[in-house]
Amino acid sequence: MKGKFYGIGVGPGDPDLLTIKAKKIFDEVDIILAPETKDGKGSTALNIAKPHLNQRVEIIEKKFPMTYDVDVLNNSYDEISDFIKGFIDRGKKVAFLTLGDPMVYSTYIYLFKRLKLKNVEIETIPGITSFCAIASKVGIPLGENEETIAIVPSVYYKKGDEKLENILKNVDNIVFMKASGQIDGLIDELDNTGHKKGSVFVSRLGLDGQIIEEDIENRRGIKNNYLSTLVAKKNKSIR
Ligand SMILES: C[S@@+](CC[C@H](N)C(=O)[O-])C[C@H]1O[C@@H](n2cnc3c(N)ncnc32)[C@H](O)[C@@H]1O
Repeated sequence: MKGKFYGIGVGPGDPDLLTIKAKKIFDEVDIILAPETKDGKGSTALNIAKPHLNQRVEIIEKKFPMTYDVDVLNNSYDEISDFIKGFIDRGKKVAFLTLGDPMVYSTYIYLFKRLKLKNVEIETIPGITSFCAIASKVGIPLGENEETIAIVPSVYYKKGDEKLENILKNVDNIVFMKASGQIDGLIDELDNTGHKKGSVFVSRLGLDGQIIEEDIENRRGIKNNYLSTLVAKKNKSIR
C-alpha cells in the first residue's frame, strides 16, 4: 500500500464546522497527527476533530517550538517532516490537523513544502478560516460589490509601518490575525484612520473562553489570547 499525507483544516472551533470530506478522510487514515498547543493543554485542532474520529485511528500529538528563531523552527519542521515521511514510506496514511484552513498562516505549510520536495503524495483539505467564521458569527460582510479585503498578521502592527499604513488607507475590509497580546497600538491606528467604529475583536470563536467585543476600546491594556482576530471596516459602523 502506498502512503499518503493529508493536511486537514478543522475550522476555527465548532466541531460542526468540519467538512464532510475531512470526516471521510479521518475514516481512511492510519494516523492523525496534531500540533500540541503552547499552553500544554493538548491540541486545540485535535479537540475540534475528536467527535469525528473513530476508535481505531492512532493519534500522535507533536510539539512545535514556541520561538521566532528561524533555525530552531526550521530544524523542528525538518525533524517533523522526516518523522511523517517515515510513516509514509511504510505505506501509512497520515492526516495532519490544522486550525481553520491549512493554507492560511498555518504550520502545515512548512511541512507541506518539505514533503512535496521529497515527492510524497499529498492532499490538502480546506477548512473554514477563522475570519470567515467570525464574519458569519458577527454578521459583518467582508466583501460587498467592489470592496477589497486585506489579511494582516501581527508583524505589521507597528506604528508607522508602511505596509500597514497603505492598507489602512486603501483597503475596505481588514482582517488582523494574531491579534494576541496587547493591541493598544493597533487600536490607536484604527482610531486615527476611521476604522474604530467598524471594528470587532473576536477571541477563541467556538471554543471555551469565546469573546466577541464590538467596542475595541475595551481590549486596551489586556493580554489577549493567542487565538484572537480583529476585523475592521473602513468608515462603517458594525453596530
Ligand atoms: C496560526 S494562525 C491560523 C489561521 C488558520 N489557519 C485560519 O485559517 O484561520 C492563528 C490565528 O488564527 C486566528 N484564529 C484561529 N482560530 C481562531 C478562533 N477560534 N477565534 C479567533 N481567531 C482565531 C487568530 O488570529 C490566530 O492568531
